Amino acid sequence: MSNPTTYGPGVQKYVDEARKLLAEREEVLRRAKGWKFDTLAVHGLYSLEEAYARNQGSVIEPLYLSASQSYRDADELEAALAYLIPTWCYTRIANPTTYYLEGVLALLEGYKTGTDTSCCVTASGMAAIAMAVDPFLVKQKDGEKMNFVSCIQVYGGTFQQFSLRLGKERGVEVRWVLHPDDLEDWKSKIDENTRFLYMEAPSNPQQSFCDGKALADLAHRWEIPFIVDATCATPALMRPVGCGADIVVHSLTKSITAGGTAIGGALISRKPVVTKVRNDHPLFKESFAEYVKFLPYRDLGPAAAPVNAMFALNDLRTLRSRMDLVSRNCQAVAEWLAGHPRVYQVDYLGLPSFKYHPLAQRYMTLVDSDDGAGREVNRYGHLMSFRVDGPPANARKVFDKFRMIYRATDLGRIKSVATIPAISTHQQQGEEARRMADVPPQLIRLCVGAEDPADVIADLDQALATL
Ligand SMILES: Cc1ncc(COP(=O)(O)O)c(C=O)c1O
Repeated sequence: MSNPTTYGPGVQKYVDEARKLLAEREEVLRRAKGWKFDTLAVHGLYSLEEAYARNQGSVIEPLYLSASQSYRDADELEAALAYLIPTWCYTRIANPTTYYLEGVLALLEGYKTGTDTSCCVTASGMAAIAMAVDPFLVKQKDGEKMNFVSCIQVYGGTFQQFSLRLGKERGVEVRWVLHPDDLEDWKSKIDENTRFLYMEAPSNPQQSFCDGKALADLAHRWEIPFIVDATCATPALMRPVGCGADIVVHSLTKSITAGGTAIGGALISRKPVVTKVRNDHPLFKESFAEYVKFLPYRDLGPAAAPVNAMFALNDLRTLRSRMDLVSRNCQAVAEWLAGHPRVYQVDYLGLPSFKYHPLAQRYMTLVDSDDGAGREVNRYGHLMSFRVDGPPANARKVFDKFRMIYRATDLGRIKSVATIPAISTHQQQGEEARRMADVPPQLIRLCVGAEDPADVIADLDQALATL
């Protein structure tokens, strides 16, 4: 909140009144920070006090569908629009239901990292990525050349946003790293005009991984932020701010809203982020997600729909136990596929033979679990891919024969879903970019759901048997 001294006494009255609410929120936050991950995910920032004081005792967070908020008089309106009091104004700017989702995501992503975080929820994962990277791509002087360094193994939509929207249309150079575990490759691509490092871990669909701590350290040596898309891990399995990442983005559409009923995204930032980009707003460095929320989000309009925030909130409550279950199911399916004679490659972080397994083993663990010796157990999520023997037509044939597994450009579901990325999610980027990103047409991406894995295996078995 900014200094209210230039405002009239009527405005000051509302500022004083808001102190009570702010103190209440501080107390809720303090209490929540003492909770375990599951308790946080279930309750977040919505408290008994809030239920009784403002929401008629509603057990579940209220869903505010109203596009706007009404004020009691001109003084309150002025205080609100000057951001002097907690307010939501208008759903493009903020919304109470979205506020609860932002609060809980910030806490979950910062859980046990010793780092304070803030969050901005957006209409989709793509919007979250745009909101996360754009503020760093502002020219500081005329004629300046800007670049950023990203792993090439990213979701097809991200590839398009980076290479077309930023690269071709805005002239920002994208420097692709082909092997994200090769630190020397990252190092060789950074210079004084590099604005950030970007990684998708694990990547969709290749399951690429990186040494997050080494990349965060490298980025910080150049005074630039390290941005990670951790959609496929979720905070239940990995919280990149713990190893130094500055900003984490998620497509909430995936495992976080596993029920498959909503599109959404989130960007979560550590407080503060590292950047040498000059920006006069104090929140830019101190609380980047809040900065995005207050300014670019308000001005560009990628607001989340409150209904979608509600769906995400509800699915999020069981995130930890669900990620445990679907990870174990995926492990069983991946092991079975790895032994199938018609499958020539299985990419899954949980397979010891997979090249990124040792790295993932260091970073991906089920939060608050215990292996009996005081360590958290490894879990690797529910996304995997496998490559079918022979020409691409074979992969299509197997794909067409699934009887229970859904064929869709979707992942993170409670139901098993498969796609062929070369003809769907990664179709637009073209053959050359697919070859560089290692997305051949023989590759079937499979996201294993919460069904009994024996039934998923039976479906795969009958489909592969048709070859
Ligand atoms: C890793 C990853 N990031 C971002 C996105 C984009 O998310 P959304 O579809 O919610 O815009 C996707 C979508 O598949 C994804 O897989």
